[in-house]
Amino acid sequence: MSVSVESVEPTTAASERDETGQVLRPHAEQAFAAELTALAEQDDRPRPARWKLSPWAVATYLLGGTLPDGTVITPKYVGPRRIVEVAVTTLATDRALLLLGVPGTAKTWVSEHLAAAVSGDSTLLVQGTAGTPEEAIRYGWNYARLLAHGPSRDALVPSPVMRAMAEGMTARVEELTRIPADVQDTLITILSEKTLPVPELGEEVQAVRGFNLIATANDRDRGVNDLSSALRRRFNTVVLPLPESADAEVDIVTRRVEQLGRSLELPATPDGIDEIRRVVTVFRELRDGVTADGRTKLKSPSGTLSTAEAISVVTNGLALATHFGDGVLRPGDIAAGILGAVVRDPAADRMIWQEYLETVVRERDGWTDFYRACREVSA
Ligand SMILES: Nc1ncnc2c1ncn2[C@@H]1O[C@H](COP(=O)(O)OP(=O)(O)OP(=O)(O)O)[C@@H](O)[C@H]1O
Ligand SMILES: [Mg+2]
Repeated sequence: MSVSVESVEPTTAASERDETGQVLRPHAEQAFAAELTALAEQDDRPRPARWKLSPWAVATYLLGGTLPDGTVITPKYVGPRRIVEVAVTTLATDRALLLLGVPGTAKTWVSEHLAAAVSGDSTLLVQGTAGTPEEAIRYGWNYARLLAHGPSRDALVPSPVMRAMAEGMTARVEELTRIPADVQDTLITILSEKTLPVPELGEEVQAVRGFNLIATANDRDRGVNDLSSALRRRFNTVVLPLPESADAEVDIVTRRVEQLGRSLELPATPDGIDEIRRVVTVFRELRDGVTADGRTKLKSPSGTLSTAEAISVVTNGLALATHFGDGVLRPGDIAAGILGAVVRDPAADRMIWQEYLETVVRERDGWTDFYRACREVSA
């Protein structure tokens, strides 16, 4: 016997929730509802079962573009088009999608937007940790009901994955490789047999068409709980790269800071581009272990100095400039943030930073103000 779709509680579709303007961080499908609607209206390509958009329109949603009626779709992901195309296509097959990459390469971000565009709901999410239990992936029980009435459909609490299976939606698992190996392996039956048995009830939930799963995993966690080869075979792996050039990274940071600034009611970055470029340059040089001109070798600090951290340094700087300065992003507004991101380990990282400051920053044309600001916060 199989469990009917209706008996699994539906999730509140994101679009049905109101007061979107009040939440601190709306889900992708709320924040970009207008773009998704425009895409759906003008998308005449075939859509896989239960998909809100065709694969082509999903890729356009992620990469940006202009629709026939002139609607502009903002780029969410800045990077190679092919990567997005492969990721979207995977979701239309019977293999699940694994987004892999170093920290801050937009794995979570891409996963959320893919789920929003494909299923219209990015909230069917399991956050992986070392303590994630099997129930988080399969199902749990409402103990009051279980004790009162014994095991029944009513007492069963479906996991986000179970709900996605029953409704033909996209489920998301964050940080898959932090989950203990035996718990990870619960996914094998789900992904290969497309079913989730509930032995207590003698039932199963069979995935309906439209179901798929996006997992993310961090390169740095490699070796913690590596995927078993059986599970790995159920996934198509897509590696998200670091931004290929400083210009691309400046572009990403600028776009995201603008979006974040809007929700924090900060002004749009007017003259901040120089400082954004500076943050990106410092992060890239220290990350790569060599100056941009390739002349000076550097030591890399222990922090990751990812694009994501550059975004938060600039956003914090902008908040400082807004509340305590004249609203223009200046070297003094980013110096403390950079220091905080670079110097994680007080001894080793501080030496690396001092050396960088004195040998590279100090000598660079046009960086005098920044050098002084850094000296001030480093003291
Ligand atoms: N190529 C990119 N295009 C657009 N945004 C990007 C890109 N790279 C990073 N970002 C931005 O960086 C931020 C952090 O990304 P996200 O949290 O998804 O990283 P992650 O890869 O999941 O990192 P972690 O491994 O730490 O979980 C997001 O706000 C995202 O917009
Ligand atoms: Mg992440």
